[in-house]
Amino acid sequence: MNEQESFALERVRNALRQGADGELKNLSLNLLRQAAQYKYGYDFNWLGRPIIQLPQDIVAMQEIIWQVQPELIIETGIAHGGSLIFSASMLELNAACGGTADAKVIGIDIDIRSHDRKAIEEHPMFKRITMLEGSSTAPEIVKRVQETANNKNKVLVCLDSNHTHDHVLAELEAYAPLTSVGSYCVVFDTLVEDMPDDMFLNRQWGKGNNPKTAVWEYLRRLENESSIAADGAPLRFEIDKMIEYKLLVTVAPDGYLKRVR
Ligand SMILES: C[S@@+](CC[C@H](N)C(=O)[O-])C[C@H]1O[C@@H](n2cnc3c(N)ncnc32)[C@H](O)[C@@H]1O
Repeated sequence: MNEQESFALERVRNALRQGADGELKNLSLNLLRQAAQYKYGYDFNWLGRPIIQLPQDIVAMQEIIWQVQPELIIETGIAHGGSLIFSASMLELNAACGGTADAKVIGIDIDIRSHDRKAIEEHPMFKRITMLEGSSTAPEIVKRVQETANNKNKVLVCLDSNHTHDHVLAELEAYAPLTSVGSYCVVFDTLVEDMPDDMFLNRQWGKGNNPKTAVWEYLRRLENESSIAADGAPLRFEIDKMIEYKLLVTVAPDGYLKRVR
């Protein structure tokens, strides 16, 4: 084994040990629960636009985008545009490093506020972005996204819109089959399931009704019913636990779904 291989192996071993450390996991959940009262997830910008993600998840997405080299990234939930600008900027870096020159991001939001739209459209990364306004589960929106993904070999999907079980499950049914083999369908805010129920009293979602319960239900469905991906192959995802083990702090436990075939 050379030095690089042994370094990689050491990382895997350490991440597995971190993942098995219950005390560390509780510390992380406590940190996230305490920080949520200050809306910690709202604190960051990417290239000038507010991104509603934790720094750890942003780094994980950078690793995924580099590894997958997607031609298309599909994102539900635009808000201020930070995650769209992030994805577009990663595709720009991939291109600068010899990757796909014309890779694109398509973002969907039910309500793109005019000041957000203006700021996104004026951003230098907008050249890689298309925005669709409407519900991510509306048939006409799903059809447009499916058409856009149609001739693409490498597609990455990120779901971050309405966090109810039913909505996320419908998004998974619509968009997860567009994920290419080896790529990911990332479902954000699965953490809701691990937080105290009274944290979401003014929300439509909470314990038992959130993105994580939708992921579990979707994976059960894939196990029990044979599903075919958009590329015509059988569809199978696995939760990439190594990502959350190494992140320690994430809003997407059980949410990094890797298409394994
Ligand atoms: C958590 S924010 C998205 C954050 C963004 N991905 C980021 O990282 O900066 C959720 C967004 O989902 C949008 N949304 C809510 N329900 C939706 C639906 N049915 N379809 C599409 N978007 C929806 C909201 O308008 C809101 O802008």
